Amino acid sequence: MNKKYIFPENFWWGSATSGPQSEGTFNKRHKSVFDYWYEVEPEAFFDKVGPEITSNFYNSYKEDLAMLKEIGLNSFRTSIQWTRLIKDLETGEPDEDGVRFYNDVIDETIKNGMIPVMNLHHFDLPVELYNKYGGWTSKHVVELFVKFAETAFKLFGDRVKYWTTFNEPMVVVEGQYLYEFHYPKLVDGEKAVQAMYNINLASAKAIKRFRELGCTEDGGKIGIVLNLTPAYPRSNNKDDLYASKVADTIFNYSFLDPAVKGEFPSLLINLLKEDNILWESTEEELQIIKDNTIDFLGVNYYQPRRVKAKESEIDNTKGWMPEKYFDYYDMPGKRMNPYRGWEIYPEAMYDIAINIRDNYNNIPWYISENGMGVEGEEKYIGEDGSIQDDYRIEFLEEHLQYLHKGIEEGSNCFGYHSWTPIDCWSWCNAYKNRYGYIAVDLATQKKTIKKSGTWIKEVSSNNGF
Ligand code: BG6
Repeated sequence: MNKKYIFPENFWWGSATSGPQSEGTFNKRHKSVFDYWYEVEPEAFFDKVGPEITSNFYNSYKEDLAMLKEIGLNSFRTSIQWTRLIKDLETGEPDEDGVRFYNDVIDETIKNGMIPVMNLHHFDLPVELYNKYGGWTSKHVVELFVKFAETAFKLFGDRVKYWTTFNEPMVVVEGQYLYEFHYPKLVDGEKAVQAMYNINLASAKAIKRFRELGCTEDGGKIGIVLNLTPAYPRSNNKDDLYASKVADTIFNYSFLDPAVKGEFPSLLINLLKEDNILWESTEEELQIIKDNTIDFLGVNYYQPRRVKAKESEIDNTKGWMPEKYFDYYDMPGKRMNPYRGWEIYPEAMYDIAINIRDNYNNIPWYISENGMGVEGEEKYIGEDGSIQDDYRIEFLEEHLQYLHKGIEEGSNCFGYHSWTPIDCWSWCNAYKNRYGYIAVDLATQKKTIKKSGTWIKEVSSNNGF
């Protein structure tokens, strides 16, 4: 008989999206860096599809949330857009329509029996704050983020009990300051490192405010969502091992350590000092980071990182870059998702679970994103008119099996959210790769449950498979 995978009681079976990727820009007060980038360079986006319409959640959230209930989800993460909720970015004064909208979304989520998880930053810095202050390299922007967070806590903290400060902050550092895939597309190691520090500080300061406001008194919890991409070395040779240790430190532990332990990894500090590129910090700020660690962790996992010892010449033309310490390793025979170009390696779910158990105080955590983006899913439409995405079901089951093994061995994981409930807009890839349990026809906005939507309903009602 096949093994059954039954998960802990009250396990979260949910799914995640974000404000900028689902709502559309209707009635927003400000433009985010992505709204602006699309305006000035639409050809940078797949099929020139921008963030204005997306899956129309701003208008259809009632029907959409009812569909999420229909496929059995018990929890749902989205993000509050800074550019929608806040009227005055300097004072944090809210916008009336933004307040109405997020109030409705939260109430409707609860009404449909789902736990709302609200995130505060999903790559969507107001572009004005970049133009005026330089964005995340500015400590004033850190203060403005805390004001925005405070407004959100005060408005919605009575009903929202799970908050996260940032989604994948390392991707902001990489996209905006190193690898040119988020506006303003800079290649500037010094700014990257300062932004890395400032975002850690912004998260800790928001957590501090959350606690000062008494949001924890009736069960409120706050965390952060990190994309953990475990770095696997080519071999156990010491230079390969060192390469993977440095890659993990720069890309994963630079946020994970301060979030959970209140301190930056000493290896990171030493490297940045040696490279003469360490951020500007004060004792007082470091104390805030130390004192304001998270209650729970969200982990986004899609793909591993394969590295080897540095063999190629260091490219100094771009200034400081993490690749000074390792080369990427193109492992022969790896399984790939050809559409997204990402390796498929479900075993990492187990490795992440055990790493958190053994090295991060076995903090309560959940998978906050995992999923498979596939292009051209129309070709899988079956006779009943729904997409037969068996490949997705297989992908999710394999990942869940490894997660289950980690939980069986004591890792404190309380849930699993896929990316994403309803096909949504994906940054520069726009609607190229679809991830949802529910398909959206962009021309008509008609939404149809895929086979994986029926599958998750079963899984959720059986608390396993
Ligand atoms: C995560 C993000 O990186 O992966 C999401 O939090 C994103 O915003 C998702 O959409 C899937 O990646 P992509 O680039 O295929 O959309």
